[in-house]
This record gives sequence, structure tokens and C-alpha cells, in this order.
Amino acid sequence: MNQIVTLDEFIIQRQKDFPFATGELTGLLRDIGLAAKIVNREVNKAGLVNIFGLTHKDNASGERVQKLDIYANERLIGCLKNSGECCGIASEENKTFLPIPSLESKSAKYVVIFDPLDGSSNIDVNVSLGTIFGIYRRVSESGQVVLDDFLQKGNQLVAAGYVLYGTSTMLVYSTGKGVNGFTLDPSIGEFCLSHRNITIPKTGPYYSINQGHFNKFDKPMQKYIHHCADQGLGLRYVGTMVTDVHRTLVKGGIFIYPNTSSHPDGKLRLLYECNPMSFLVEQAGGQAISCKMERILDMKPTELHQRTSVAMGSPMMVDEMKTFLKKAKAMDKIRTA
Ligand code: AHG
Ligand code: MN
Ligand code: MN
Repeated sequence: MNQIVTLDEFIIQRQKDFPFATGELTGLLRDIGLAAKIVNREVNKAGLVNIFGLTHKDNASGERVQKLDIYANERLIGCLKNSGECCGIASEENKTFLPIPSLESKSAKYVVIFDPLDGSSNIDVNVSLGTIFGIYRRVSESGQVVLDDFLQKGNQLVAAGYVLYGTSTMLVYSTGKGVNGFTLDPSIGEFCLSHRNITIPKTGPYYSINQGHFNKFDKPMQKYIHHCADQGLGLRYVGTMVTDVHRTLVKGGIFIYPNTSSHPDGKLRLLYECNPMSFLVEQAGGQAISCKMERILDMKPTELHQRTSVAMGSPMMVDEMKTFLKKAKAMDKIRTA
């Protein structure tokens, strides 16, 4: 029988990769692992208890929030507040960032950014959900955290990861030295190493986009979608970014949420969704860009709830999309001139 490596054991082993590590990041990652188990427990029984359904409140981005989002948000905040290893939090569900004012946390050097529950439109229909997180070193010297501690480029991420509440529950994370995945064994209540050193295939069989928005895409993107179909690629789209990107990481392919006429800057959030997922995709050997062809991780955020268009996945497919869109945009310019 293979030796089981639990998430906690793995995190502690990996601390050696960082010679000056103080154990704070290790502690933070373990706290997130714990929060993931608590959220998982509730997600699993969402169909049983009266926890799902709309709260009739909007989140900071003006979208309808469901009860489980709030539950996940509160759990994550609770675990991180108790940890003493994090001095501030920014969540998709909170309008502004939350400083953690406890005595220990004031000297902590990390801030955590997260989307507590990703894919909330899938809660009521028993389809997989996710949690996304990113960890940064604060940039302010000391005292209470400030906005600039959160408005950092994705290329400054110290660690990022996601939890996928799917047919099994997985936690996938990276500290900038490759990507590893852990599957929750419910019989022992532990995340166990199941996907060592995830590497994205150079190309893949799927494109993943909400094709129902086709009429709202710009012309070059419409042409690219036809091109994907012409190549015989399969279309896969769950509507939970974590799930769609996880499949893309494991099987290869391209995931796109472009700018649309109703979301001219794209729908997905740079800080809570695109940066952490782009960090993981790049760490696995893939690429992540906006539809304006900027590297996602090099974009400078100007506000917490900023949105961006995004395309990420197998390196050859992202490269090909870039070339295709450049050509299509040039032709579009000539046509409209
Ligand atoms: P959230 O539930 O955190 O608001 O995120 C939902 C996101 C993302 O997970 C998914 O890729 C996308 O919204 C789906 O949007 P469409 O329904 O427009 O395809
Ligand atoms: Mn989300
Ligand atoms: Mn969410």
C-alpha cells in the first residue's frame, strides 16, 4: 500500500523549501484546510437542510447572494481571524477589506483574499462548487492593514489555491513551486495527496465558455468560437470557475470568460478569482491572459472588486488563441475602416 501523505504533513514538509520560513504561511495554509473541511460539511448537506435559497441581499458586486455563500464567508473569516497569522482579509462577499486587529495578528505579515463560494448559481442543483484563495505579504510596514496591501499584482502572490466541492472534495494549492492536489478522504477527515505536481497538458480536447452569451461577444471572439468548433473541440462548461479550470488543468483545454456587451470589462473578479487561478495555471505550465492579451498576473488592480476578461489553460491553445484574435482584430479594423 502506498504511504498516505496528508495535507498537513505535506505543508510542514514543504516549509523546508523556504529557508527563512517562520511557520506563519504553514499555519495559514493549515487554517484554510480546516475551513475547507467545515465548508465542505455544509456544502454536502445543502440539499438536506434549509440552508440554501436566496437571502435577498446583494453582494459587493451587486449580485444575488445565497445563504451558503454567507456561511462559507463567515467560516473562512472565523478560521483566519483565530489563526493569528493573517492581518487582513478581502472577500468577494465584503464591500471593503477587513483588518484583523487582534494583538498577535497586528504583527502578522500576510493578507488573504478569497472567493468563499464560487459557482453559487449551482448550489440549488447539486452541481460542484468551489472556494478560491490567494495569500500576499503585506506591503505596509506595520499597524492596521491598508488598501494597498490588497491591491497587489498577481505576480506578488505567495500562495494560492482552490477547494473543489465535487464528486469528491479536493484542495489544490501552490506556493510558487509547482501545484499539488489533495483529495478529502471522508472516512478519516483528512485531505490526502492524490495529484502530485500537476502539469497541464500542452494542448487539450475542450474549450470552456458560456456560449449562450455568443451574441454579446465581440466579432473576433465570435470567430474564435467558431474556430474552436471547426477544430472539433468539445464544449464543456459547468458555470463554476473552479470546476471548469480544474478540468482544464487536469485534461488540458482552454477556459474563457470574455468581455461581453453586458460586462464590458468581463465578469470574473481579478483579485478573488482570476489572479489565484492564473497563478495555479501558470505554476502548472499553462498561460493566463485577458482578452486584451495582457498577462493576468501583471495587471495592476485599482479596486478590490475589479473585473477582467480572462482566458487560461494549455499553453499551445492560449498561444493559438492570441494569434487568432490578433489576426481577427486586424481584419475587423480593416473592415470597419
Ligand atoms: P460566484 O458564484 O463566486 O459569483 O462566481 C460565479 C462565476 C464563476 O464561477 C463562473 O465561471 C461564472 O460566474 C459563470 O457565469 P455565467 O453564468 O455568466 O456563465
Ligand atoms: Mn466566483
Ligand atoms: Mn462567490
